[in-house]
Amino acid sequence: MSGTTPPFPPRHRGEVPVTDLLAKASRSLLEVWGEEMFRNAGTKLEVLGQRLIVFNRPAAIESVLVTQAEVFAAKPAQLTKLLAPLLGPGLFVAEGRAWRGRRAVVEAAMAAALDGAGGATATGWAARPEGAALDVIAEMERLSAGLLLRLIFGEAAGEPDEIVRLARAYRAKISGGGLLTLMALPDPLVRLRLGGDAKRIRAVVEPLLARARRSRTGLAAALPAELARDEVISLFAIGHDALSGLLAAAWFLLGQAPEVEAALHAELDSGAAEAPLLRAVLQEALRLYPPLPLIARVAGRATEVAGLPVPKGSIAFVAPWLVHRHTAHWEAPDEFRPARFLPGAPPPPPFSYLPFGLGPRQCVGEAFAMRAAMQAIATLARRFRLRPLPGPAVVPTAGLTLTLAERLPMRLERRDCPGG
Ligand code: HEM
Repeated sequence: MSGTTPPFPPRHRGEVPVTDLLAKASRSLLEVWGEEMFRNAGTKLEVLGQRLIVFNRPAAIESVLVTQAEVFAAKPAQLTKLLAPLLGPGLFVAEGRAWRGRRAVVEAAMAAALDGAGGATATGWAARPEGAALDVIAEMERLSAGLLLRLIFGEAAGEPDEIVRLARAYRAKISGGGLLTLMALPDPLVRLRLGGDAKRIRAVVEPLLARARRSRTGLAAALPAELARDEVISLFAIGHDALSGLLAAAWFLLGQAPEVEAALHAELDSGAAEAPLLRAVLQEALRLYPPLPLIARVAGRATEVAGLPVPKGSIAFVAPWLVHRHTAHWEAPDEFRPARFLPGAPPPPPFSYLPFGLGPRQCVGEAFAMRAAMQAIATLARRFRLRPLPGPAVVPTAGLTLTLAERLPMRLERRDCPGG
């Protein structure tokens, strides 16, 4: 299968003044990476007195995220203060002993069953006329919110619409120019700016939490009461954004590559228990559009990473966005080629593929997200196909998470297929 080249933002060449870099960052964190950063071993930068080091080499990535995870245990305060008003001391921002305890509890509770992913969306699409225009971003946000609410609140989970709207509003405030402005503000002002939105989300979550605990279903009921409130919001906020991003990217990429889509339909229609191409499409979507494109840590003490001295307090970046498109690790890195993940294909070099992060803080929802995405796309693609429609150009942007587009109109078509 030959590759198509799905869109990515323009990359500058050569040195760029810090003021220009900040202007780019305030539009999107995907615009700050110059062409040479997709080829070099890493980059050192000094921005407004803060030392930033971007690591690209596998040995350095392993060192920061795995072997020296204790040294690079903390996430930068500039980042955690944006999430703290919403997440409280939840898993994503917690540190040290508190983090370890919470992580173990959430992992144990996550062995939850997952049934019918995509079913409600399929029912909704079946009621739409042939050729209807759908906004795939909104559809996948709703689908993933429904799944996450069910995972977390069990039988108490209600309709996802209100919480999707509130989560969108929060995300809009910590994206684009808002992200940099907020990072520069002192904590009390950040709390003032984000506190109202966080409170509105909590007001929706609290009654759900109480109902879930009464019904004894969902993750919320499995967590100790004192952890449940913070953790359910953490799990929802992070999981919902990332999962809906993956699903929207998968539809977008399939819409650009009819021959991959045809092969996927053949695989789904065969009724085989395994779906290696579907898994490969999702893995390739996570490579090209990693929902969390930037992982950041602070050096808790002076150390050395793959031979490079790293002073205490430096911010270390491992950017899946960069590493996943690095010319040293991938052939035709900007092309959509799911075949690179099919069984029998040579595996990517170690530490060059990390959509779910690596090391002790690797994503706690990885297995759930992959199972949910496989089930949702399989359920829908068996019965429907989505064709690209003319719309605004797709140029992915990123604050803390990657956004493929604000809207992604696609045309809904029914498939004539076994079980369709
Ligand atoms: C496609 C889907 C997903 C992607 C690509 C993704 C990616 C990631 C990444 C890269 C990290 C590590 C961040 C870091 O090291 O700084 C992470 C952590 C985390 N993810 Fe996910 N995630 C996904 C889905 C989910 C879901 C569905 C949930 C919840 C149900 C979830 C909950 C979390 C939590 C709580 C953490 C923090 C873990 C810790 O610090 O111990 N994620 N995720």
